[in-house]
Amino acid sequence: MIAPIEPTLAGLRARTAAWRNAGETIGVVPTMGALHQGHLSLARAARDTCDRVIVTIFVNPKQFNNPEDLENYPRTEQDDARKLESIGVDVIYVPDGAQMYPDGFSTNVSVGGLTDMLCGAHRPGHFDGVATVVSKLFLQTSADKAFFGEKDYQQLQIVRRMAADLDIPIEVVGCPTIREMDGLAMSSRNLLLSDRARAKAAALADVMEDMRIALVDGALMSDIADAAKAKIIAAGFNEIEYLELRDSQQLKLLNEASSSSRLFAAAWLAGVRLIDNIGVE
Ligand code: PAJ
Repeated sequence: MIAPIEPTLAGLRARTAAWRNAGETIGVVPTMGALHQGHLSLARAARDTCDRVIVTIFVNPKQFNNPEDLENYPRTEQDDARKLESIGVDVIYVPDGAQMYPDGFSTNVSVGGLTDMLCGAHRPGHFDGVATVVSKLFLQTSADKAFFGEKDYQQLQIVRRMAADLDIPIEVVGCPTIREMDGLAMSSRNLLLSDRARAKAAALADVMEDMRIALVDGALMSDIADAAKAKIIAAGFNEIEYLELRDSQQLKLLNEASSSSRLFAAAWLAGVRLIDNIGVE
C-alpha cells in the first residue's frame, strides 16, 4: 500500500502520539528525496527493527551553500512514494519550507570540531544546515531510532555528536553504502551525470579500492596520494577537493592505516560533485 503523505507537523504529531500510546517504537529515515536503493536500504533497516517507520523528504535550503545546486537538486516526489510502497513505510513526512522554517526562525545548530574538515571545509555552513534540520526532524518525529548512510560518513558522525550533546533520546544507526554494479556509490546526484560522465564516475571508487589495498599493506598516504589523484584526473574527473585518510571516530588526519581508519574523497566530474569513503582496517 502506498504510504500516506503528511505535509504538516500537527498531522505527524497526531500519528506519532497514537503510536506512542500503543507502546510502539518509531524509526525515522531523513532524506532529501530522489530516492534510490541506498535510501531504501535505510527504510528496510528501520522496518526490520522498529514498529513504525517515518521517511522524511525535505530538500533543506539551509544546507545548500550554492543556490544553483539547490535549484538543480532532483525532485521526484511521486516516484519516491511509489518506491517506498513495497517496503511498508507508515508515513512519508514532506514538510514545506514554511512548515520547517516559519517567519522569524532564527536558531542554528552548529557542531564544533567534526565540521572543520572534509566537506565542512569546502561547503561553508553546510553542516550547520544539516545539524539544524536533523535536530528538528528528531524532535518533530520523537523517533527512537534514526537511520543514516555511511555514504555520508562525516554527516553520520556529526549527527551522532549533535544527538548526544543535545540529550535527544534517539539511537543513531549507521548503514553501509549501497553501490551500483560498477562500484559507484549510489547518490541522488548521479542523476545529474550525462551518460558520458556516468561511464567515468566509477574510477573514483576503483582508485580508492586500490589505495585501500596498498594502505592495508602498509603504504603511506604521503607516498601514494599524488599518483592516485593523477589517476582520478586521467579517468576524466575535473578536480579533486580532497583525498584523505582519517580515523573513523574523530576524523583526525592519518598518514597510515590504523585499526579504525577510513579513506575519504570528494571530486568534481562534469559539474557534479561526488563523494565517497571506505573503511581501511
Ligand atoms: P540524502 O542525500 O537524501 O540522504 C539521505 C540518507 O541516505 C543519508 O543518511 C545518506 O547517507 C543516505 N544515503 C545516500 N546514499 C546512500 C548510499 N549509496 N548507501 C547508503 N545510504 C545512502 O543526507 C541527506 O539527504 C541530508 O543531509 C539529510 C540528512 C536528509 C538532512 O537534510
